[in-house]
Amino acid sequence: MHPCLILCLLGSLPALSGASPFPRRRPSNPGKTVDVKSLMLLMMNDEEDGSGFDFDLPAYPNCPFGCQCNMKVVQCSDLGLHYVPNDIPADTRLLDLQANHITEIREHDFKNLHSLYALVLVNNLISKVHPRAFLPMGRMEKLYLSHNRLTTVPRNLPPLLEELRIHDNNIKKIESRTFAGLHKMNCIELGRNPIKNSGLEPGAFDGLHLNFLRISEAKLTSIPKDLPDSLRELHLDNNQIQSIGPEDLRHYGELYRLGLGYNKIRHIEFGGLYYVQNLRELHLNHNLLSSVPSGLPEMKYLQVVYLHSNNISQVAVDAFCPASFSVKKTFYNSISLYDNPVHYWEVQPATFRCVSDRRAVQLGNYKK
Ligand SMILES: *[C@@H]1O[C@H](CO)[C@@H](O)[C@H](O)[C@H]1NC(C)=O
Repeated sequence: MHPCLILCLLGSLPALSGASPFPRRRPSNPGKTVDVKSLMLLMMNDEEDGSGFDFDLPAYPNCPFGCQCNMKVVQCSDLGLHYVPNDIPADTRLLDLQANHITEIREHDFKNLHSLYALVLVNNLISKVHPRAFLPMGRMEKLYLSHNRLTTVPRNLPPLLEELRIHDNNIKKIESRTFAGLHKMNCIELGRNPIKNSGLEPGAFDGLHLNFLRISEAKLTSIPKDLPDSLRELHLDNNQIQSIGPEDLRHYGELYRLGLGYNKIRHIEFGGLYYVQNLRELHLNHNLLSSVPSGLPEMKYLQVVYLHSNNISQVAVDAFCPASFSVKKTFYNSISLYDNPVHYWEVQPATFRCVSDRRAVQLGNYKK
């Protein structure tokens, strides 16, 4: 896995242990919180000169009431706040405002915060962000807006932003050029928003370089065609995608992980996977496929294929492996086919001749 991509998974990281001067707050709403301690450790790792923190500094004399301030980290979670406090120290690097009752981000809420590295606003009631609110944040790399009530991605995102998490809002539309000018972007989490294909306006992702994108649990009926062509991971699970046409993946030749589980895919047209020759991992479990998609044997690097819980009734001897061994650069280390109406005893063992270990194939039993 690309090391940067790990950062995208921060929300699900277990709390890092170890000595820390920061008292742990009990999350008021487990599963909906950002672990600020992990975030701080990340920030410390990211500090290029290593001098981002002054460990001798005493607690801020002017910490907003009720918050905890220490080493340029200001924690104001679970305080019932309706607005961003107006007296946040100007040199703050990490601002944690999660689990409050903030409904709106106003134009000057972050006026003086030119040094901010990460802003945590998850689990509030935010439905409005002033289009100029993020302008002062020339150094911000991480913005967490999940579990709010936004209907659109805020405009004028900070230019050095690397990670945007805006999961579980009410976003129906991504406007044209929403991400224009963001050249350092690594990861965008847009899952659990009611986005339809028609809600992605033409050029929505224009000018964006991005490694990782998740639009899971949305209302997509096909693979969007205008996503950034730099993508290395694309997660579209839990949508209503019905098929993959020959051109659908045309721009995504850099992909090495593709998640399409829990959709309604009945068929993948011949050549549908032609453009994604670099894939390492393909998840097609929990769909309606009646056969193993064509094109798998030509993928030199494919190692993981999930096809369990489909409607596959036959598996041909050349469904996965090329005729000549030399074609495949890496053998499979996981193929799942269980929960399909195939007679497993009819699948020839040679079908899995390019699998690293026999235990890497999960056939299982079909009971109905
Ligand atoms: C599964 O495939 C069979 C044909 O092999 C078809 O008759 C049936 O309708 C399919 N089931 C679903 C749920 O699509």
